[in-house]
Amino acid sequence: MSHRKLDAGKLVVASHNKGKIREINELLSPYGFEVVSAAELDLPEPEENGLTFEANAAIKACAAAEASGLPSLADDSGFCVDELDGDPGIYSARWAGPEKDFSMAMRTIEEKLQTLASAGEVSRRGYFVAVLCLAWPDGHQEFFRGEVHGDVVWPPRGDLGFGYDPMFQPDGHDRTFGEMSSEEKHGMALGSEPLSHRARAFKLFSEGCLEG
Ligand code: IMP
Repeated sequence: MSHRKLDAGKLVVASHNKGKIREINELLSPYGFEVVSAAELDLPEPEENGLTFEANAAIKACAAAEASGLPSLADDSGFCVDELDGDPGIYSARWAGPEKDFSMAMRTIEEKLQTLASAGEVSRRGYFVAVLCLAWPDGHQEFFRGEVHGDVVWPPRGDLGFGYDPMFQPDGHDRTFGEMSSEEKHGMALGSEPLSHRARAFKLFSEGCLEG
């Protein structure tokens, strides 16, 4: 499938989430864009009322592209627990409440798993999803999805990263995302394969819209 290429220049990262802005900036750093965030431009945060990661990524990217007149990149992401039918999923930020209390959100997941476990065996599998939407001011959109699967661990471990990182241990690793530096979490050092959901989506984005 052919994708519209993105020319060098100004690019808006359509987010107000500091952890995400930092990670997207890290992933964009080799490409020489002049990156500015929606938070820095003081753009309003649109209501994320879509029912899929794709719909919410498009809402954020299109709102920023329209308001700024610049190509805009949004990430909609979340943590999905198999035994909870994919929850918190698109509601991952909301489970942390207005105080953005992710210790509470992680505890909520664990309590739900323990309640299910008291009635029988439960899976402790989960995965992160990231969908990137790149939107241009003329309305054109491109989508890229990355996932990383692993175990939901308790108690949480590590204070690096953000959100649900301390309770997720990716397959093939013995440390949680909360115990990994961002280089390890992205997994893109020395040309290795990307590890995190965001880095995996980003690889597809860079192959589709940035390279060649
Ligand atoms: P969004 O801004 O609606 O996409 O919210 C995504 C939420 O999912 C974030 O606030 C985090 O709670 C969670 N999340 C997404 N990506 C990550 C990650 O890489 N690590 C930990 N939590 C994440």
